[in-house]
Parts: sequence; C-alpha cells; structure tokens
Amino acid sequence: MEMEIVGYNSRIKITQVLPCVSDDVTGDTKIRRDKLLRTSWLYDPFGDNLTYGVEFNVNKGFSWEFFMYAKTAEKVEELGDALLMNLQEKYKGLDGKVSVYPLYSKYLEINRRLHEIIIPQHPPIRYQFLRKIINYYKTPQRKIDANIFILWKRDDLHIQPDPLSYMLRIFISLNPNQNCSINFGKQESSINAVLRYFISDMSIPPYIKAEIKSLSPINWIDLLTCNVFPKRSDYGLGPGQNFPREVMPKFIRSNEIDFDIPHEMPLLNPPILENRNSINLPISKNDPNFIYIGKKMKDGVLSTDLGLIEIDGLTTHLNIFGKTGTGKSTLIKMILNDLHNKRPDVGLLILNLAKPYLEDDYPMAHVYKFPSEKFRVPYIIPFDRAMISIKETSNVFAACLGLKHMGPGIFSETFQICYSKIKRFPKEVKAFFSCVDECMKAKAWEPEFKQHIRTAFKRRISEMFYRPDLEATLNLLEGESSDIPEWFIKWKEGETVLLDLTKCLEDEQHLIGMLILNMIEILISIDKEKTNKLKYLIAMDEAHRILGKSNDKHPESPEFIMKNRTNAHFSRNFNEWRAKGIGIITADQHPHLLLEVAIDSARNKILFQLGYPSNQIFTGNMREREMLLTLWERYALVITNAERYLMKTADDII
Ligand SMILES: Nc1ncnc2c1ncn2[C@@H]1O[C@H](COP(=O)(O)OP(=O)(O)O)[C@@H](O)[C@H]1O
Ligand SMILES: [Mg+2]
Repeated sequence: MEMEIVGYNSRIKITQVLPCVSDDVTGDTKIRRDKLLRTSWLYDPFGDNLTYGVEFNVNKGFSWEFFMYAKTAEKVEELGDALLMNLQEKYKGLDGKVSVYPLYSKYLEINRRLHEIIIPQHPPIRYQFLRKIINYYKTPQRKIDANIFILWKRDDLHIQPDPLSYMLRIFISLNPNQNCSINFGKQESSINAVLRYFISDMSIPPYIKAEIKSLSPINWIDLLTCNVFPKRSDYGLGPGQNFPREVMPKFIRSNEIDFDIPHEMPLLNPPILENRNSINLPISKNDPNFIYIGKKMKDGVLSTDLGLIEIDGLTTHLNIFGKTGTGKSTLIKMILNDLHNKRPDVGLLILNLAKPYLEDDYPMAHVYKFPSEKFRVPYIIPFDRAMISIKETSNVFAACLGLKHMGPGIFSETFQICYSKIKRFPKEVKAFFSCVDECMKAKAWEPEFKQHIRTAFKRRISEMFYRPDLEATLNLLEGESSDIPEWFIKWKEGETVLLDLTKCLEDEQHLIGMLILNMIEILISIDKEKTNKLKYLIAMDEAHRILGKSNDKHPESPEFIMKNRTNAHFSRNFNEWRAKGIGIITADQHPHLLLEVAIDSARNKILFQLGYPSNQIFTGNMREREMLLTLWERYALVITNAERYLMKTADDII
C-alpha cells in the first residue's frame, strides 16, 4: 500500500533561551499588561490567523518545540524559518533548530490516549500553566512521562473579533516511564493524579471548573495537522452573519496565562556579555593579515560575524586560558597552522611541555626531543657580547637553583674568570660548577661562613644539574664554528620547530625553558626597521611548568626565590620582545597559579571556562565573572586591544 502524505509539519526545537527579566517595579497595571502582551508567546506574528502549536516533552529530559502545519514542504519550511526569526527578535538569547517532517496518514492512526485540559476563560488571576509543566519536570521520582500540546489561533469567528483574543486548546498524553514498573491498577491512578495536578489552581470558584476530557485516538491527526478549531466556513457563514453561540469556543488573552519565559526554564542559558565591543571589518577567513578563530556571539546567539586576530597584533602577546577540555590546545593548533600558511616566513617555536606526540598536530615542524643527541640547549651562549650573556645566564642559574644572596654574583664572577683566561667557557657544565667552587674557595671570607655557603651551593647544584641526560643537553657543542644549536638556527630562519620536553622532570623543564627564553633574549636583536611585524612566535601550552607560581609561599624557600627571580627576569624581557617582532602565546588551565608576568605581559586574551578564583582575574564585573564559571566548551571571551566579545571556536576539521 502506498503511504499517503497528508501534509507537512515544521518543528522549531528551542535549544537555548534567556529568561524575560521582570522589571515591573512600577506596579502600573497598564505598563505591566503591555509588557505581558509583548513577552507572551501566545501570539500570531504573521497576522494571518494561522494555527500555531507547541509541544513540551517531559520525560528524562525536557524539550520545547513550536510546530505549524501546511500542505507543502516549501510552505512549512518558510513558516518555520520565519517563526524562528521572529522568536529570536522577541526573545534575547533564543536559538533553535527548524526541521520539516512529512505526516503519513498511516502513522497518525496510532492508538495513543490523549486527554484535553479545558481551562475556564477570563481567570481573575493569571494562569500559571507553563510553570506547572516546568515544576512537573522538576518533580523528583516522576513516574509518568508527559507530552503536552498547546494549540492556538487568533479569533476569527466573531464578526468584530478582539485582536488580543485567542482560541486555545491544551492536550496531554501521559505514559509510564520506560524504566519504571508500576502495575496496571496503580498506573491508572498515577495518570489521574498527574491530570488532576495539571488542572489544579485553574478553576474559578464557585461554579466554573477546569476539566479533563478523554479523547479518542483519531484526534492525533487533527492535532498534528493543526485542525482543532472551528471555522466560519464549517457553518457556511457569510460576512455579516454571527457565529452560532452554542459552538463558539472559549477564548483567552495573552496576559491571562504565563506564556513568557521564566527563570527556571530548563533549557540552556546562553552566555551574555553586556560590555560588548565588536568591530566587524569586511575581512574574510582567508585574509593574509588575520587569523580566523571562530564565530562571534551576539545577544547569546551564534552569529555569522568572524572572530579574527590580527597577525602582527600577536607581538603584544596572547593568553589562552580555560579549564581542561575547553578547547585551548585545539585553538593553538588552528592558530599556528593558519599562521604557517599565511605567513610562512614567521618562525614558530612550540614548547611541548605536556602532550606526547604533539608533533602529529604540526606536520610542518622540525621535532627535537629531550633527551637526544640532536637536541641541545647550551648552558651559556658564547657570543660577541659575552658580558650580556654572562649576566643573563647567571640570573637564570640563580633563579633555577633558588639561590638568594650572592647567587648571580658568584656565577657571574666565575664566568668572567673563565672567559678572561681562555676566551672560552668550560665545555661541560660540571666543569663550570667546579670553577664556581674554586672561585668561592679563593674568597677571603670568614671560614665558617665560607664552608656554609660552599656546602649550600654544592648541594643545590648537585641536586639540580648532575643528571647525565640533562648534562649532555646543556654541555657546549664541540668542534663547531658556532655554539648555537641547530633547532635555534632553523627557527631563526623562519622554520617551525617543536621542542619536546615531555620527558623532562618538572625542574628540568623549568631550567631548560628558562635557558631557551634566555637564548632568545640574547640572540634575537631589536628590529631596527621598527616594522612592528610579527617575525617569531613562541607557543607555550601548559605554561605553569615554566611560568608557574611557587607552591612554597615561604619567602626564604628556594622555590619561592626561584619563581620570584623567574618573574623578575621575564618582566624585564617580555615587554621588549615586541620590538624584536616576537609574540608569545601562553596557555594554561589555572591562570591564578601563573606568575604575574605570564598574565600582565599579554594584551590579548582568549578566556574559556575558568574555575574560581581564575575567573576573577580578568574582569571586575560580577556577571562576567559568573559567566566565565559556566561557559560552554569551545566558547570563550575574547579581549583584544580593540574588541571584547564572546565566540565559539572554529571547527577543527583535521
Ligand atoms: N575547535 C574544535 N573543533 C572540534 N572539536 C574540538 C575543538 N576544540 C576542542 N574540541 C574537542 O574538545 C577536546 C578537548 O579540546 P582541547 O583543545 O584538547 O582542550 P584543552 O587544551 O583546553 O584541554 C578535543 O579533543 C576535541 O574533541
Ligand atoms: Mg590542552
């Protein structure tokens, strides 16, 4: 048998919405009434006396769908799209999905019980029917699932209809939960209890009662084809003839029932940014000067406006913060790959501190892994301005060893002694530290004090440096014209280099990381042409491993001293890197555990969901702080020099 299509349904599934804020403090009844009329979804937006329907599904979940009927698929699609646009105009933050379904006559003849809820007209106080549905959804240990259909149509029966009057019918279908076994006798009474609940508080004493009516299964067709209201044509009425009183349906006005959007609506609440500032330049995703990061949100709804980061703006550095799994690493991957395509001359340096096989995300990268023969980070860079190198390296050693007094001084002095003798530094880091001890031994210090200092230095140095893999990495290169490692030369020439430090212990990462940043400070010179162009980019995901705050808060503790020195060291450097054309991307999950320099030095921020207290760092606005706590995955607050907006990151298609 051929299946007959009796028409089409357009369904608009509401996926997110914001509550209508109730600001009726005036108490002025006219203002209140106007507002209710404005915010009610009991309306007829197209003004052509269509029948509109909504279906609420209360089972394990909760859903809200508008539906309309027409003979052709094209017509319902048009109606659905138009209604969604109209709803979005009416309700801030509303979004939904439109689908079109054919209605097969065969499937509509299902045997499913349907009840009608009949509510009296002109209630003395507003009906709270939507709240009832929501409260029912929130009932703990609910045993019965409910499908509630509400259909309405603007009055077109009276000769002079009241434009604010609607015919309204409410249908309900109740079925026991799948996973809940109640015996048949009990089932009936459970269903009746739910029905009774739905009409509670709706009667108008003393005479008019809200009622439940049982309907035969055939009403499903009428329901889905929106054929539930009488028409003048059913009675062959001409223009001036009155509709028969005995068949006149009941009417309701929008302000008589709570069809606006309450706070407790169990749908997604989209994030909203009040202090939004967005510039939409006519720029495409493929613009060579910008990187496309995602779609902007507008009033809680994803728009088609592009979120773009200016490539040369990256010299003012970028922070990407957010909880694990929010999309940071994926975003970095997309930024770097796009940058590599658009500006192949920019040297990319990826410090991999945490994720094994990160190189799979960067096919263009030269990969250097710790420990290996190929990967070297000389403990000092001997170059033409040796004094600068000595000063910086002494600071890094003192910082990494957590040595407070004398640390930098002793190291610097030793470097100078070594260098002035043979114009070279010892090849092995161990040999250098022997010289450090010699240097201290030769001091005219008070013997007990000297012994104490030497022991302290020795202990700290042997704890930190005397590990074969680390030593091999730090020792100076032999027999080569330059002591600058291969990876650095490649990066400086504009290639992509990935340094894999995932096999390092945490203190080794800190030391190597600092030496690398130090090398960059020494070997990359100021861009004399002052082009302000991006020439180098460093990406540091899981940055706490290099730029983390001290766990030990005692100011005399080696770790505290070490982290404090690290902060001071980079505070001096990072801001000047702009003039060198160097940009830094720092990403982490707990920005409140990062050194101030990691946060203060960046002018561009992409903030995904953050936990307390990290959410407090970037905004003083309470609502924005709250919003950051609950942002959805891949949604982020973007703050740049010029803009402030919410966005969803672009789809990662690899
Ligand atoms: N832009 C994106 N497109 C598609 N999937 C994504 C995107 N961003 C994140 N994801 C998904 O979320 C997961 C976690 O993302 P990831 O970038 O690793 O988060 P984080 O680095 O913040 O922990 C990814 O494995 C991926 O499945
Ligand atoms: Mg990550």
